[in-house]
Formats: sequence, structure tokens, C-alpha cells
Amino acid sequence: MAEPKASNLTWHGGHVDAERRAALLGHRAACLWFTGLSGSGKSTLSTAVEAALVARGVQAYVLDGDNVRMGLNSDLGFAPADRAENIRRIGEVARLFVDSGAVVLTAFISPYRADRAAARALLPDRFVEVFVDPGLAVAEARDPKGLYKRARAGEIPSFTGVSAPYEAPEHPELRVDTGALSLAESVDAVLAHLQSQGIIPAP
Ligand SMILES: Nc1ncnc2c1ncn2[C@@H]1O[C@H](COP(=O)(O)OP(=O)(O)O)[C@@H](O)[C@H]1O
Ligand SMILES: [Mg+2]
Repeated sequence: MAEPKASNLTWHGGHVDAERRAALLGHRAACLWFTGLSGSGKSTLSTAVEAALVARGVQAYVLDGDNVRMGLNSDLGFAPADRAENIRRIGEVARLFVDSGAVVLTAFISPYRADRAAARALLPDRFVEVFVDPGLAVAEARDPKGLYKRARAGEIPSFTGVSAPYEAPEHPELRVDTGALSLAESVDAVLAHLQSQGIIPAP
């Protein structure tokens, strides 16, 4: 957690522990942290995984980049410090969801390794980094929001992959090549990983 500005704070713990919540829900809590270029498939894949999890009775919820930037993080832009604060807040919100026993899925470009490492540090043993990686050429060819076109025309400053860096994960728990796999195959790859880790039970 970040150092609070206020002093005289005392943490007040609750009475319900993680085991009790897992027993209630029938699965473990986790944060699936989807990271990748714009157009890589984070929103499409995370919402499809969310739907598949909910169909299995898992308490799952997606926090999506643009959605969160329209609300909680509407005061933040895309300068490096704003991107870092964006990810810090997402990490803290994800921590609350995990504390509640849920499987939370985050779908943010989250281009900086240090920011993702900070989110991971907030979620010991619960952080599953999913590198959504069809490669830049495929993501740019998809261009679902027409943003690469505008970025190449110089209309969007600091666009990840074009005029701002993307620091690829070095040791993600899972890498999904959404250029090679269909959406259904990509969902299956994520579910198989969660099952192999004992986060969700076999169907
Ligand atoms: N296996 C796959 N997983 C996810 N998206 C895929 C896959 N194959 C093709 N796509 C397409 O790629 C695009 C990804 O866009 P989106 O999910 O908005 O990306 P992001 O949220 O990473 O910016 C969508 O048009 C989606 O239909
Ligand atoms: Mg998206």
C-alpha cells in the first residue's frame, strides 16, 4: 500500500477470513491481470472469461480500462505519472475485490513493468499476469477503435506501441496469443490455468 497522507490511522480488521469466503463461494480469490497493447484483446477476452466463470458459479468481475477512466480515474490522463496512478488505483481496487473473495479481472494496457510489479506486490499469491500477445502487427491491423490510425497520423500523443513504450512481461503466469488462438480457445486457456492452480474447481 502507498504511504497515506493522513496520520493517526489504525487498521481495523474484520472477522471473516479468506478460507471462510472461499468455502462460501466454492473457489479461491484471484486477480487476473490482463496486460497487452491496445487491440490485443484484453477487453474481449476478459469479458468472455468473466461470462464463462459466472456460468460456472464463480463470483467474477471485470475492471476495464476505459470504463474505469470514465469514473474512478476520470481525473487521470496518459502521461507516465498518470498511467502509474491509474494502475495503482486499479491495484488497490483489485485488492479489495480479492479480499472479498472474488475473481477480479483487470483489462488495462498497463505498459510499465514497475507498475505491474507494484500491483503484484499488493496481491501476494493472488496475482495471475495474463499477457495478451498477438504482436503489434496483428493488434494494429485489428485497430478496433481506429486509434492506431490516428496515432500514426500524429493525432494521439503517447500512444502505446507507437509513440509510447510497452514493456512486455518477462515471466507472466500465462501468455495468450490471440492472433493464433480463437476467442473460445483463448478462454479455455485461461480457465485451464485457473483450474490447474486450484483457483476454480473442475466443472
Ligand atoms: N482470441 C481472441 N481474443 C480476444 N480478441 C480477439 C481474439 N481474436 C480476435 N479478437 C478481436 O480482437 C479485437 C480486440 O479488441 P479489444 O478486446 O477491444 O482489445 P483491447 O481491450 O486489448 O484494446 C476485437 O475486435 C476481437 O474481436
Ligand atoms: Mg480494452
